Amino acid sequence: MRVHLYGNQLMLRAVTVFAFSLFCIISFGHVDPAFGKDDGVTSIFSPLAQPAQEIKETSILVLAVCAVIFIVVGGLLVYGLIRFRHRAGDEASEPPQVYGSNQIELAWTVLPILIVFVLILVTSRTIADIQNRKPPPGAVQATVVGHQWWWEIRYPELGIVTANELHVPASTGNSHQPTFLKLQSADVAHSFWVPQLAGKTDLIPNKENRMWIEPTIPGTYLGNCAEYCGTQHARMLIRVVVQSPEEFDRWVKDQQQAISGASGAAEDRKAFFANSCVNCHTIRGTSAQGKFGPDLTHLMNRETLGAGAVTNTPDNLRLWVRDPQKFKVGCLMPNMQLTDQEVNQIAAYLQTLK
Ligand code: CUA
Repeated sequence: MRVHLYGNQLMLRAVTVFAFSLFCIISFGHVDPAFGKDDGVTSIFSPLAQPAQEIKETSILVLAVCAVIFIVVGGLLVYGLIRFRHRAGDEASEPPQVYGSNQIELAWTVLPILIVFVLILVTSRTIADIQNRKPPPGAVQATVVGHQWWWEIRYPELGIVTANELHVPASTGNSHQPTFLKLQSADVAHSFWVPQLAGKTDLIPNKENRMWIEPTIPGTYLGNCAEYCGTQHARMLIRVVVQSPEEFDRWVKDQQQAISGASGAAEDRKAFFANSCVNCHTIRGTSAQGKFGPDLTHLMNRETLGAGAVTNTPDNLRLWVRDPQKFKVGCLMPNMQLTDQEVNQIAAYLQTLK
């Protein structure tokens, strides 16, 4: 009895390891959005743009090679465990001992070297392909700056500054219009990751990294900061809004408009400009020129507040102005201890920023 139990335990362990590996492979790469139900759970296994597709092809090859090795090794192990398990009456005898087979040793030295060599060649070709891509004329250039915990997005050539939503044109059949990104950080290391568009690239203080994306299907693509950067790392979401070239041009024209100094009711405007909002936020066309927090010029065109913490609705906006710490504990915008009237007036003014 004791003998059989021992064999079964080993088997159980092998099966557990196998199941765990399978679970890791299947669940790897999923990103859960901070809110919303089925909206935008995104996977590296369903890429919808370059270079994510190219990366997936390479990783499928690597995964397939590893899966074959896993099955061969795991299969031999299970076969050995069952076929040569300890049986009653075996106590006295030693199994036959084998060593020094040149063929076997050559095989298990040369084969892995060949496999590793093939994987190195394929991987470095993909990496070089992606890194050496040069921006074609007409490519959109944007700078993304990581902050604790939001994304500043600038289009220097277009004169646009926005936050947390990167708008890019879709490439169509006959016109390639990729977007080239410069990645910087204002504080600590972050990582820009939109799984269906491209791999991760880090945003490092005092260093500029580059990446590009070339989506073809309009829609909103969700991503995350993928490098732990402090308390609210999990609520540092990025949305990439891919638009048809015409829609993108329209968005650019809208964003280039400054805000009129006479926007909103005079009382509401006064409440905003009399408080310290202006020390941290810019509204182009007005005296608000703070650089510390997100640019609010076209705030109402954004889908979320607090880098994906909550949806941008009038109610949430009011709650956010009253106490951002409710939605995003530790975020750098403090509770300003505003009166109810001030909260309502500031929220009303913000709602005119379209
Ligand atoms: Cu930024 Cu994690």
